[in-house]
Amino acid sequence: MDDLDVRPRINRWTKARRDLIFGPAIAECLVQPHFVVNGSGIDQAIPGMPGINRQSKDVLIETISRDFSLGLSAHMIFPVMSESEKDNRGTKAADDGMPLQSVVRDLKEKFGDEILLMTDACLCTSTDHGHCGLLEGKNIVNDLSVETLVGISLSHARAGTDYVCLSDMMDGRVLSVRRALEKEGFNSTGIMSYSVKYASSFYGPFRDAASSAPSFGDRSSHQMDVRSDYREAILEAKTDVEEGCDIAMVKPGLPYLDVLKEVSSRIERPVAVYNVSGEYSMVMGYANDSTQRKRVVLEILGSFVRAGADIIVSYHSREAIREGWV
Ligand code: PBG
Repeated sequence: MDDLDVRPRINRWTKARRDLIFGPAIAECLVQPHFVVNGSGIDQAIPGMPGINRQSKDVLIETISRDFSLGLSAHMIFPVMSESEKDNRGTKAADDGMPLQSVVRDLKEKFGDEILLMTDACLCTSTDHGHCGLLEGKNIVNDLSVETLVGISLSHARAGTDYVCLSDMMDGRVLSVRRALEKEGFNSTGIMSYSVKYASSFYGPFRDAASSAPSFGDRSSHQMDVRSDYREAILEAKTDVEEGCDIAMVKPGLPYLDVLKEVSSRIERPVAVYNVSGEYSMVMGYANDSTQRKRVVLEILGSFVRAGADIIVSYHSREAIREGWV
């Protein structure tokens, strides 16, 4: 049996997955994002994102191990590549020897299923043009991009990720990745789809961190129009659910709480929200003492839960857990 599009057991496969998705406490919902670069001993601050660094594998493993010992067990990792590692097809993203895949293998060896790893499978960090898909002229071609995303996803699955995270917004990618995972026997590897992802102005600090800004144009031919109403959001989320995603995401968070509420009440899969880099930057610029930041962060995290989020991806996760705010 290797052709199931929907495998509800994936979200129940490990205790870490069950706690993240079904645990009612805010602390259980949190996912901490990280950025991994090639090299060793690298621990580089990111402008606008205090407390979030680009780290080489050795440093990142220490960081995540420390987070884990604080009780933060769900982590999302983004690969960051230098210009010399990029090409126009994003070849390195599917390379089993890259730091992202290697960090996943090492962390899974160290912590097994007690750690929950999510890995970003987009093309924007590995292509020299910085677009989330492959180009023909100035156009992002859908189906060819999906084929490449399948290759990247399989590489993450081989490394042992819990959830491949599809953040590209190409049509049909969930189905193609699901079918490929099935075919290769990865029937406990999950897919978290960035189902409802807007062409937002709140991703600026992330694009600096991941050096993934498009070299020309923007992302509006694939990410959702910020003016669109609920119909498009529901269509995107339902399509991904039918194609077999295990978690559907709404992104960004705060400007789209209403969409989050609508989506979470209308689909039958867990819903994640991404409290993105621009939202984090605003809070860090505003609330610079810890007492005030605690109140602000709790208010924001509480709003996500009230709007129906089962999972919250947030750069505030570490501080919230370390300081016992949640
Ligand atoms: C990659 C991706 C982006 C983010 C997550 N995955 C940037 C983008 O779409 O340009 C943004 C996350 C953040 O701002 O924190 N496609």
